[in-house]
Amino acid sequence: MASAGPKIGVIVCSTRTPRACPQIANFVIETIKPASLPTPPNLQPASLTVIDLQEQNLPMFNESAVPSQIHSYTEYDHAHTQSWSQEIQRYDAFIFVTPQYNWGYPAALKNAIDYLFHEWKGKAAMIVSYGGHGGGKANAQLKQVLQGVRMRPIEKTVELAFPTRELLAKASGGGDLELVSGSGMWSAQEGSIIEAYRELLEAVSADVVSL
Ligand SMILES: Cc1cc2nc3c(=O)[nH]c(=O)nc-3n(C[C@H](O)[C@H](O)[C@H](O)COP(=O)(O)O)c2cc1C
Repeated sequence: MASAGPKIGVIVCSTRTPRACPQIANFVIETIKPASLPTPPNLQPASLTVIDLQEQNLPMFNESAVPSQIHSYTEYDHAHTQSWSQEIQRYDAFIFVTPQYNWGYPAALKNAIDYLFHEWKGKAAMIVSYGGHGGGKANAQLKQVLQGVRMRPIEKTVELAFPTRELLAKASGGGDLELVSGSGMWSAQEGSIIEAYRELLEAVSADVVSL
């Protein structure tokens, strides 16, 4: 019988209203439909689940202990941390879909990362950044921080650039970017999204098979 496929959380890293992030995360998911990719034998296709940081609505970090010293979610002080811990424990790997804000990634994302440690540790991660020039600075900074919580960010990165100032303004206002797979403004980037996802799957599949 085939083993359960890897569970991948797709993290929507913008918490603004309005925002472009959910439609970009959906575009990424549509582009990498797991069924269309080969998976190792005896492994079911990966499942992709959206984790929206806006819905988590975490306050600024307020735990009394350093998360790397916590080994059970029940040891956290607050219900919001316990529930965030349980959410992140469910997944084998993550795809972070993040905007660039002032040459970095959003504060809400750093806050969400800092709440936990062992829940992230050892898990593979793929980063998709976006912005006027693709959000490369946010992408690189996030990669470093993920290494800090002992995640395993893959080598390939995806940077999605808004081709015009008008489209950047539309994104900022939450307008429909018409991100149709195969014909939208980022159709040329779909290959790099799939390539990165293959690398993520290889990293996480090795973990799941060796369990
Ligand atoms: C606080 C803030 C800072 C921003 N800084 C940058 C930036 O450094 N580089 C960039 O390309 N775009 C920047 N932008 C524009 C964002 O790429 C654009 O607003 C995008 O829609 C943000 O993603 P979101 O709508 O999902 O939050 C910034 C936007 C905000 C709100």
